Amino acid sequence: MALYGGRFEGKQSPLFRAFNDSLRFDARLIAQDVEGSIAWASALGRAGVLTEQDVFALHAGLRAVLDAAQSEPAAVLASGEEDVHSYVERELIARVGELGKRLHTGRSRNDQVATDLRLWTRGRIAELLDGLCTLRAALVALAERDGQTPLPGYTHVQRGQPVLLGHWALAYFEMLGRDAARLHSALERVNICPLGSGALAGTAYRIDRHALATDLGFTAPSANSLDAVSDRDFVFEVLAASALCSIHLSRLAEDLILYTTSEFGFVTMDDAVTSGSSLMPQKKNPDACELLRAKSGRTLGALVSLATTLKGLPLAYNKDLQEDKEPLFDSTDHLLMCLRMACPVLDTLKVHGARTRAAADDGFSAATDLADYLVRKGVPFRDAHHTAGLLTRRALELGVALHALSLEQMRQAAGPHGTRIEPDIFEALSLEATLSRRDVLGGTAPGRVAAAIVAARAAVDAEHRAMTSARK
Ligand code: ARG
Repeated sequence: MALYGGRFEGKQSPLFRAFNDSLRFDARLIAQDVEGSIAWASALGRAGVLTEQDVFALHAGLRAVLDAAQSEPAAVLASGEEDVHSYVERELIARVGELGKRLHTGRSRNDQVATDLRLWTRGRIAELLDGLCTLRAALVALAERDGQTPLPGYTHVQRGQPVLLGHWALAYFEMLGRDAARLHSALERVNICPLGSGALAGTAYRIDRHALATDLGFTAPSANSLDAVSDRDFVFEVLAASALCSIHLSRLAEDLILYTTSEFGFVTMDDAVTSGSSLMPQKKNPDACELLRAKSGRTLGALVSLATTLKGLPLAYNKDLQEDKEPLFDSTDHLLMCLRMACPVLDTLKVHGARTRAAADDGFSAATDLADYLVRKGVPFRDAHHTAGLLTRRALELGVALHALSLEQMRQAAGPHGTRIEPDIFEALSLEATLSRRDVLGGTAPGRVAAAIVAARAAVDAEHRAMTSARK
């Protein structure tokens, strides 16, 4: 029996069924649909619509439906039902008989699906936060292992100033921390209960919506029924946070892809996370990172897809909203995989410290420090910058590093400010001096990075403990 027989004389065409039905993807909401239905049965009981025995029987029936579905998921998909809601209802009726037909009293699939999806999204956010925490811990572990190794820092993919590898790793730690904060914040708005909104105008039964919300672990019932059944901004927020997170991962991946080329030679990726070429025997390809880089296209696509579906949609529920699920499932499935995949990439990364140090100490990354040196000797910064440029040009002409110029050569090349250059210039241009001078909050001086690593470790450990105890 279809959910809505009475008004229809004719049968739906198979083409329409295939086009309209959502069971093939919303079947994964079954646990949430049953959870919501159990709470709804209790709410009807409290409202005096159902007796205590009715509620008890419905609860048992609903649990049996879920158990059966979980032990044989293929049977759900093969049932030919329109969606997960009609599937659960039909199975319930098959188990508890006439009573099953009372469950949908005062409820609509519109408030039902909004509730299911919020319950599901809440669980998904928890999984994403867990994945983020683990990945951030992997970044901290990398920083703990190789954090004091010098690395060229780049702007425009041109060597700029040296940094420490720990500083680089913690840059991603920060980005992913904000991603986690965005999901935390989205959770506040996800965790609101639409049930009791009915189809659009609110239910006509005396439902205690506060008790219902509490039953389902929501923080509050939604305030407006039209809004509750028709907005998917909570999905949008999660998709936006997911897209941004995968954009961050794409940048991390791209850095590593560059660093692993023979041209850079900074890192080697483990065999476990790379693949070979079917033709070129020497190849070791950073496929894991390339896919991490690529997935942002998919997550961003999901966000745009939902945004386009919502734009201009009249109140309240429209079937367009059925298109909210696949982008949400797909985007977050893939983001979860990305978060998990990035961990072994980092855990097994081999850093070639001699190579990164040599590249960081190429003699030109200290050009800013040469200018700073002149500033300390009383030269205005603009002149100092110009003078450092003159010396750089001279070194390039001679094909040597800045610090390989002799004091005489430096003084000559520097023109009017040449006399300010003294033997202590060589110490000032050393890699160690360049790094340790960035001794400012947020800077790459070794002490600052060491302290940042300690703080980051404490933060992820605390987060991890909080998550483990929340799960208990
Ligand atoms: N499968 C539908 C969805 O995902 C469930 C809600 C159907 N409501 C309706 N009035 N047709 O949106």
